[in-house]
Amino acid sequence: MHSEISLPEALKLLHDGEISRWEPLFWGSNGNFIVEVHEGDERRLLAIYKPRSGERPLWDFPRGTLYKREYASYLFCTLLGWNFIPPTVIREGPRGIGSLQLYIEPDLTVDYSTLQKKHVEEIQRICLFDILVNNADRKAGHIFRGTDGKIWAIDHGLTFHAEPKLRTVIWDFCNHPAPPELFRDLQKILKHLHRREGTPDWLSPWLEAREIEALLARLRRILKTGRFPNFDPRARNIPWPFD
Ligand SMILES: Nc1ncnc2c1ncn2[C@@H]1O[C@H](COP(=O)(O)OP(=O)(O)O)[C@@H](O)[C@H]1O
Ligand SMILES: [Mg+2]
Repeated sequence: MHSEISLPEALKLLHDGEISRWEPLFWGSNGNFIVEVHEGDERRLLAIYKPRSGERPLWDFPRGTLYKREYASYLFCTLLGWNFIPPTVIREGPRGIGSLQLYIEPDLTVDYSTLQKKHVEEIQRICLFDILVNNADRKAGHIFRGTDGKIWAIDHGLTFHAEPKLRTVIWDFCNHPAPPELFRDLQKILKHLHRREGTPDWLSPWLEAREIEALLARLRRILKTGRFPNFDPRARNIPWPFD
């Protein structure tokens, strides 16, 4: 419905538009909503609104922080230049502060097992991203092709924990060398993170200092080995449910 809106325009609309209609999402594990955002009569889009107030408490993640992790993931992905997370903002909505993310219409004719074979480069990029942000919940259904033909990834609330928690369906690249162009993106972002006296202050409003340190440590480790890490036989490596 909003194919005529560019991604920068969508970002602005998400930020400044009026939320006129909202309906609860009955799937997913938190109290989230699909909302309509508009500015005037012509510019409108659908978005997924995840209010802090709808977050179900978890034993391992600090309360009321999942919406910030959604946003920090979007920022980090954008800064890497990888752009597979739909435009996301943090703002007030009908249930209070939360994240608002552009709704991407999925192309339901393809599933993950097809994408895994046909879009290896994109899947590798998402795999590397998940390792860096320590994604604890990468399900197969949350990587999809949009009706726009692009590969997108969603649901990044369980990211950036300071302790190792990687749980993902993508274990295809264990111990493979990181592709040179992705490796270069990592080198670039490391420099960027260090530019301001070692403090990535664009992330610090959203994450704890020790979580940012852990992110830097994961980044340095991959830059040192130049490889995707191995499956850890002692850890719970896959999400539940799987898809
Ligand atoms: N940006 C998006 N575009 C399209 N569908 C989305 C988007 N974000 C969420 N969804 C849909 O909403 C469902 C619930 O979202 P999810 O991110 O899994 O919520 P939760 O925070 O509860 O894990 C997803 O399975 C997907 O179907
Ligand atoms: Mg989820």
